Amino acid sequence: MNLKDKIVWVTGASSGIGEALCEQLAAKGAILVLSARNEDKLKALNTRLGGMHHVVPLDLAEPEALLKEMPAVVERIKRIDVLINNGGVSQRSLFLENDFSVYRQLMEVNYFGLIALTKVVVPQMVKQGMGMVVSISSVAGKVGSKFRTGYSGSKYAVVGFMDCLRAELADKNVNCLTICPGSIKTAIAHNSLDGQGKPQNKPEESIENGMDVGRAAAKMIKAIEAEKDEVVVGEGISGLAPTIKRFFPRFFNRLTARMNYR
Ligand SMILES: NC(=O)c1ccc[n+]([C@@H]2O[C@H](COP(=O)([O-])OP(=O)(O)OC[C@H]3O[C@@H](n4cnc5c(N)ncnc54)[C@H](OP(=O)(O)O)[C@@H]3O)[C@@H](O)[C@H]2O)c1
Repeated sequence: MNLKDKIVWVTGASSGIGEALCEQLAAKGAILVLSARNEDKLKALNTRLGGMHHVVPLDLAEPEALLKEMPAVVERIKRIDVLINNGGVSQRSLFLENDFSVYRQLMEVNYFGLIALTKVVVPQMVKQGMGMVVSISSVAGKVGSKFRTGYSGSKYAVVGFMDCLRAELADKNVNCLTICPGSIKTAIAHNSLDGQGKPQNKPEESIENGMDVGRAAAKMIKAIEAEKDEVVVGEGISGLAPTIKRFFPRFFNRLTARMNYR
């Protein structure tokens, strides 16, 4: 897909991977719909990118509100070529310490919010006869590790949802790309939830030493342009983990039991 003049809706545009994607997509001539909760950051990004983009604040933790309010956005913009479901939140806490509500919180944002927005946008793509749904899952949606029972569950769910959606939309010229990033250097660890659902506000080694976010975004955009089905974007062990687990599952499970990325 040539991204010039395409209308691309990006959630989680206020920070990290989403912000880097928006910068590079704008440089390729895409018109963006910028979404996240923090409207001030979205407006500042729009100004930085030339001011011609659409700012649409939304909260993925309120899927029913998205289903009610977002159709008007589609109607106003008239066309959505690519939806990038990127907004999300992680978690760093042990199962034995977690409140049950944390699991629901993670599923609302990472899974039900994603489905709600996809449900609003896909009928428009079918109507216009083309489109692409891109969902940012995670390597944690392919392999499990300590401290991530809630996050990993929500990201595995995204992989399954996307596999089924891809099959259903195959004859409608709407492609579905699942991106599974490894450790990318963003604010994700700071924003990740603790066992009571509050941001942990501290760094984590694997993320601090993770892949440069601009480099990761460039690889993701290449996968969009090539209309791939699924890609892993990561360096070192985080990028190799799905392959290691596939071929050496017992070795991999023993390894993750020893690792402590909190
Ligand atoms: N960084 C990594 O190592 C890594 C690895 C694998 C997967 N991922 C995935 O990549 C995506 C982006 O993460 P990131 O690394 O860029 O982290 P980040 O810097 O913390 O950015 C997260 C983005 O999601 C938005 N967001 C969070 N909760 C939201 C909500 N309730 N409603 C709407 N937007 C919400 C945030 O915006 P507001 O706070 O303004 O709402 C922010 O723009 C996530 O889905 C994450 O799971 C990241």
